[in-house]
Amino acid sequence: MGKRMERILVTGAVGQIGSELTLALRARYGAENVVATDHVTPPSPKLRDSGPIEHVDVTDRDRLEEVVREYRIDTIFHMAAILSAVGEEKPDLAWHVNIDGLYNVLEVARAHGMTRVFVPSSIAVFGPETPRDPAPQETVLRPTTMYGVTKVAGELLGNYYVRRFGLDVRGVRYPGIISSETLPGGGTTDYAVEVFYAALKTGHYEFFVRADTVLPMMYMPDCIRATIELMEADFDKLKHHCDFNLAGMSFSAEELALEIKRHIPEFTYEFRPDFRQEIADSWPKRIDDAAARQEWGWTPEFDLQAMTVDMLARLREKMKEGRL
Ligand code: SER
Repeated sequence: MGKRMERILVTGAVGQIGSELTLALRARYGAENVVATDHVTPPSPKLRDSGPIEHVDVTDRDRLEEVVREYRIDTIFHMAAILSAVGEEKPDLAWHVNIDGLYNVLEVARAHGMTRVFVPSSIAVFGPETPRDPAPQETVLRPTTMYGVTKVAGELLGNYYVRRFGLDVRGVRYPGIISSETLPGGGTTDYAVEVFYAALKTGHYEFFVRADTVLPMMYMPDCIRATIELMEADFDKLKHHCDFNLAGMSFSAEELALEIKRHIPEFTYEFRPDFRQEIADSWPKRIDDAAARQEWGWTPEFDLQAMTVDMLARLREKMKEGRL
């Protein structure tokens, strides 16, 4: 179990988290050792020019295995997934990608005796019956979205591979992730990213949730650090494997709008909840991440204020370069 991560493959590498994680992994483990894979979206020039990139649809096990063989992969960060809002519009696709895709990744990893696999879970594993403030580590997992159903199954499956096959699978329940590089694709927490772009580009944002909607969120630098710190943690110290609660910050939609307004006084906003409100209402407001803190030393750095300052600075920079 003490084997090293040397040859890494990232699925979903052009997605919101994958795109920044791949660059961080390339900086840490050597660019030529980190293979970015995805199925459709064209990669940013940064991703394309900084290391190997391959076309892989995770639902195609043969293709995944071909790339694993070619690059002698020993570690997979499996970031490809359909998120909650798209998953409600296309439940069959969510099942296929999130369940069949994950099964392919785990089976290929097992067959090749891999060192480690990262499988992200989400706050979407919780449901209306879960205590909301905070959601405990061990609690009721009865989600009401297809996305949540696939994430609970993913946690159970990952834990099963640890126990049954000795494959070192690890994962956290990511909160909503806020980032300035790549937009999220089809989640319920997307408003917390969109609002920054709208505030700078048009000066107005229409939230698709109510003003008092509080959800757990995390800024990308914390998300990347959590992912790498868990993957580098000592296996013997871990009591949990694929289901760590992970907290960054929590705020209401209106608190976020007001924080942005402190920096952009002319910013205006309104609240027009759509079908995503029901999803948001089924998730907790806060997360108890004591297990992550105890077992691998997790501590977040960014709160609402620090995240807002950094997001606005980075997006203004992108605007100047004509990339927004
Ligand atoms: N950000 C995700 C979503 O909204 C939560 O895991 O679907």
